[in-house]
Amino acid sequence: MFILAFLTWAFTVLDRSNYNTRAAQPREQLVPFSHAHHVGGIGLDCRYCHTTVETSSFANIPPTKTCMNCHSQIWLTSPTLEPVRASFRENKSLDWIRVNDLPDFVYFNHSIHINKGVGCESCHGRVDKMPLTWQENSLQMEWCLNCHRYPEKFVRPREFITTMGYQPAGDQEEIGRRLVKEYNIQDPRLLTSCSTCHR
Ligand code: HEC
Ligand code: HEC
Ligand code: HEC
Ligand code: HEC
Ligand code: HEC
Repeated sequence: MFILAFLTWAFTVLDRSNYNTRAAQPREQLVPFSHAHHVGGIGLDCRYCHTTVETSSFANIPPTKTCMNCHSQIWLTSPTLEPVRASFRENKSLDWIRVNDLPDFVYFNHSIHINKGVGCESCHGRVDKMPLTWQENSLQMEWCLNCHRYPEKFVRPREFITTMGYQPAGDQEEIGRRLVKEYNIQDPRLLTSCSTCHR
């Protein structure tokens, strides 16, 4: 009994300190949308909502209609969801506060990363465990360059692009080097040249 209580305590403390070091500020939103519920719990794929992430530079935030696919039928009386219902009734989109936001002088493009085997997780972290969304990485130039210099350390087979908690089936760098060839990923000299991101 004592040991069990101790283990529970130790786990909670460790878990919390880990949480504290990794988490930037979770963003308060008008509607407390939880990826932990919708991805981790229900198991929705990212592309169910972020439909343009593979085809455009921008990953869209889903329209209220997407939420109503389910919430016109479940949790109908939840007060938490009233802003969602109001948005649908009045045909006005919900205002979501941005979480990740690069300065305007940096060019970024989602589709190219997705199509070359860079998983959402590599940049956004374990979104499936976020009750409110936070920015996982610094998004500073050094952080981008760290991968542009050594993409083989990060790329994964395309079929796992939205997988959370991905584990490579073998040595990452070996698989990575193979994928860099297969996906025709540019030379690090080009990928780190200023005009790639500042144009
Ligand atoms: C049911 C719809 C839904 C699904 C599924 C979903 N998201 Fe989201 N996502 C949202 C909504 C709504 C927001 C805006 C609110 C917020 O920031 O939490 C959002 C915001 C985000 C943001 C922050 C956007 C910003 O402002 O910078 C990221 C990153 C993100 N989602 C990644 C993912 C990833 C990765 C997955 C799959 C593992 C995923 N989402 C699955 C609906 C969804
Ligand atoms: C595929 C179905 C589905 C879609 C699409 C969906 N949800 Fe949900 N949502 C659920 C389910 C199921 C729950 C209950 C989850 C639980 O408690 O584990 C839930 C719970 C919630 C809650 C918590 C409600 C409360 O009273 O605590 C909020 C807030 C929410 N969803 C917002 C949204 C928003 C915003 C969108 C659109 C971006 C959305 N959902 C899209 C199925 C969905
Ligand atoms: C190479 C890193 C990287 C990968 C991979 C990546 N993102 Fe992002 N994401 C970013 C950055 C950087 C921003 C901020 C962009 C800006 O401010 O212009 C962002 C912003 C977003 C946004 C807010 C809307 C936008 O486009 O600015 C959403 C939603 C999002 N990402 C979802 C996803 C999903 C879902 C995936 C996987 C299918 C994914 N991202 C993969 C780096 C990445
Ligand atoms: C985890 C790895 C990773 C991270 C982090 C990353 N990238 Fe990339 N990036 C890549 C790969 C791989 C490519 C694909 C190169 C290719 O097309 O051959 C790429 C391509 C690009 C391209 C397109 C290059 C072209 O020639 O069109 C831009 C722009 C870019 N990244 C900007 C950024 C910015 C800005 C950041 C940081 C906010 C960032 N990337 C973070 C891996 C990454
Ligand atoms: C892979 C993408 C990428 C490449 C390549 C890149 N940068 Fe950046 N750069 C960024 C990002 C992202 C920021 C914004 C950092 C922030 O928000 O703090 C930035 C910011 C800057 C800034 C503003 C000051 C600062 O540090 O925030 C300068 C100046 C700059 N870059 C110059 C360069 C030069 C010169 C090169 C070529 C040697 C270069 N960059 C190559 C992504 C890149």
